[in-house]
Amino acid sequence: MSRSIKKAVFPVAGLGSRFLPATKAQPKEMLPIVDKPLIQYAVEEAVEAGITEMIFITGRNKRAIEDHFDKAYELEAELASAGKQQLLEMVRSVIPKNVNCMYIRQPMALGLGHAVLCAKPIVGDDAFAVLLADDFMQGERDGPGVMAQMTATFAREQSSLLGVQDVPRAHTKQYGIVSTDPFGERLEKVGAIVEKPAPELAPSTLAVVGRYVLTPRIFSCLEKIGKGAGGEIQLTDGIEALMQYETVLAYRYKGRRFDCGSKLGYLQASVEIGLQHAETGAAFADWLGQRG
Ligand code: UTP
Repeated sequence: MSRSIKKAVFPVAGLGSRFLPATKAQPKEMLPIVDKPLIQYAVEEAVEAGITEMIFITGRNKRAIEDHFDKAYELEAELASAGKQQLLEMVRSVIPKNVNCMYIRQPMALGLGHAVLCAKPIVGDDAFAVLLADDFMQGERDGPGVMAQMTATFAREQSSLLGVQDVPRAHTKQYGIVSTDPFGERLEKVGAIVEKPAPELAPSTLAVVGRYVLTPRIFSCLEKIGKGAGGEIQLTDGIEALMQYETVLAYRYKGRRFDCGSKLGYLQASVEIGLQHAETGAAFADWLGQRG
């Protein structure tokens, strides 16, 4: 097993029911934050972490993602003939030249664990990253992105890693929740993991967010488990099985997360990135200020 992570899995086959009707005919991962779709931010985060093989687990209505990372001949030809060089460069640089995109279809939305298992034929015996694009992550200003922090940690520890953050107890029902023991700087050893516990049953308030680095043994664990909460094959259950063989660590990432699978988180991310944006930032701040 290599020390460095070169492959990332992007499960994008969910139904996105919280964003209907916007997600009726397009994936939620194509929703833009200002001018870039969520999935592109996640791919850029993986590229920054040194990852070159992007594996998308797609489902119905997800063709827009393949098109987004593909060459757009007609658009490029039109921009070139109109002399719109800057826009042409932007369209061409959506994905760096050394990065490969691969697509696997998840025939039915059987759960996140099932989606990850679909990546087994391409991932093989390597440790790999998982990024849920609807968790929009920003590293600290001038610091590394969250996945870059995690791949660097993996290179050192050689254990599976779960990105975690503290959440209000009332919110535990939305997350996988871990109980942990101290391990190292920003690291804790996972002792138990529970999918979406009610606040009164949650073993802690430490929640797993949409960033993982997993060893390939997760695949045999996912193959063994059956359907869990909500009748889905849960990644949480696969990780619980993995813990019987290997140490699994919780990593308290440096940075901020916006839950763009929810309307509120999506709006918050749009405002934050709108304010940081080179083109819109100043005018948007003025406008927000005038609104009082
Ligand atoms: P969510 O729990 O956010 O589900 O999935 P969802 O269907 O995308 O959205 P809602 O809840 O209906 O609004 C977490 C992640 O797992 C992926 C989703 O695309 C999302 O990135 N997923 C989930 C799959 O790829 N396949 C599945 O079968 C389920």
